[in-house]
Amino acid sequence: MNTKIVLLPGDGIGPEVTREAELLIESVAQIHGMDIEMQSGLIGGAAIDATGDPLPQESLAVCREADAVILGAVGGPKWSDPDAKVRPEQGLLKIRKELGLFANLRPVCLHPKLVDASPLKPEYLEGVDLMVVRELTGGSYFGEKVESDDFASDSCTYSREEIERVVRMAGDIARQRSGKLTMIDKANVMATSRLWRKVTDEIMQADYQDLAYETILVDAAAMYLISNPARFDVIVTENMFGDILTDEASMLAGSMGMLPSASLAAGKFGLYEPIHGSAPDIAGKGIANPFGMLASVAMMFAYSLDLKEVADQVDQAISDCISDGHCTADLGGTLNTSEAGAAVRRKLAENTLGS
Ligand code: IPM
Ligand code: MG
Repeated sequence: MNTKIVLLPGDGIGPEVTREAELLIESVAQIHGMDIEMQSGLIGGAAIDATGDPLPQESLAVCREADAVILGAVGGPKWSDPDAKVRPEQGLLKIRKELGLFANLRPVCLHPKLVDASPLKPEYLEGVDLMVVRELTGGSYFGEKVESDDFASDSCTYSREEIERVVRMAGDIARQRSGKLTMIDKANVMATSRLWRKVTDEIMQADYQDLAYETILVDAAAMYLISNPARFDVIVTENMFGDILTDEASMLAGSMGMLPSASLAAGKFGLYEPIHGSAPDIAGKGIANPFGMLASVAMMFAYSLDLKEVADQVDQAISDCISDGHCTADLGGTLNTSEAGAAVRRKLAENTLGS
């Protein structure tokens, strides 16, 4: 079977970590004798510079033909003038919408070696292992926008169907994990949140009675993520709350450079990206932590290519490298980006081929 993967390196440290994803995918293909075809496309600021469009039609067209997409990061100071008509982030939002990537999975767990890398006290970090399922193609990100010099508005809209499909996905994921689902909203203020609560309550009542289900207001949830993060297993929430809470949750994992994500459509197709963003302050220095990207590649093998075993092997190789101190400076190591990527490929080969 010929698998097609599109690489969209984007901006900042995006190309540096995407290169490591490419090399890892080549290694996996070689180890397991797979036929994987990769091709690159433009997105974000790099696409604006080359074509004037943050998501050229050609990029979208190749993604539509692919089994999965790997994305580095978009954005940077060069394109962040608030008056600019075209911004790199528009490319990211458009690809999510156009490809129907409605569910964004962001797992957060802490390698024991990284307890000291987290700004939280070790006693708060015990047992942290959670999965945020963020709705990705609705809410205020995509509602009508009004902008003038004296007035602006972003409208937040959700339909029952948009809520239902992501809640069901989160419920199914919770079933595979510890069986606990937390829905986070602001139902004491927002009409959209009241619909989220009504629809989620109904679905849980009808089809997920086996789960331990609770709802928490987003402000309280932000506090619990710090004061008692181990109380959470699977979280489902709307687009903007999920954006904010996952940056907060990333600190539980020791470094933002560690966190992967999967943005899934109905079916198997998905886009995989680390959550760290373009990190312009360290771009071009070759020091970015590639592990969040490599863990995103693992998610791709699990969710889009149905190769859970390969995903586990990649995760294990990353974990072994951290245990051995073969990592970048943000994790207390001394390796640069390409050395850390090479260390993971070496571990993977060692673990799977015994060489
Ligand atoms: C993310 C990012 C994006 C978002 C930005 C770059 C538009 O913060 O993927 O979390 O807000 O969704
Ligand atoms: Mg974000």
